[in-house]
Amino acid sequence: MAAGDAPAVVALADRVHPTFHEDAAVFVDRQRLFPAGSLVLPGPAGTLAAYAVAYPVRRFAPPPLDTVLGALPPDADALYIHDVALAPEWRGRGLAEPAIRRLLAAAAPLGAATLVSVYGTWPFWARFGFRRVDDPALAPKLASYGADAVFMLRETTEGG
Ligand SMILES: CC(C)(COP(=O)(O)OP(=O)(O)OC[C@H]1O[C@@H](n2cnc3c(N)ncnc32)[C@H](O)[C@@H]1OP(=O)(O)O)[C@@H](O)C(=O)NCCC(=O)NCCS
Repeated sequence: MAAGDAPAVVALADRVHPTFHEDAAVFVDRQRLFPAGSLVLPGPAGTLAAYAVAYPVRRFAPPPLDTVLGALPPDADALYIHDVALAPEWRGRGLAEPAIRRLLAAAAPLGAATLVSVYGTWPFWARFGFRRVDDPALAPKLASYGADAVFMLRETTEGG
């Protein structure tokens, strides 16, 4: 992803997540802070087929949605997979897996990867070695992600 991709990323994000709008500034912020975690898959005619966004965080502190961070925590101990999204017409072809593998490689030096699963996708993430962390103490941090949000963790040693 380049900073100039932000409008196309927002256009796709608004299609995939109609109830979770995030401003272009959020994607520009993440791309600037951690370019290795911001990926795009070009589609036809200037569109995007997919994007992924991930960046270092403190392990049990997923940031609220639609928030510009400005800086990464100096004591980050996990890579947070903020989003992996394919346009509906590009799903069902295994296209997410290479991006997820790339993000898991970026997570290895930090010791873990985390994410907030929505839309009942937690079994999809379990295929990559993520496990659910069903801790009520996390509930306030998940509030902006909706009622079906599930926090998941994959320690580098767990997933290989
Ligand atoms: C989830 C998503 C990234 C998967 O992308 P994809 O590369 O098209 O995935 P595929 O449909 O090719 O599925 C790959 C494998 O995962 C399985 N899978 C897909 N979605 C799943 C789900 N929700 N739960 C369990 N398994 C799932 C498929 O059955 C397939 O298994 P197989 O290889 O044994 O056939 C994509 O559907 C998407 O962008 N969804 C909307 C956004 C979203 O939900 N993002 C994640 C939010 S946390």
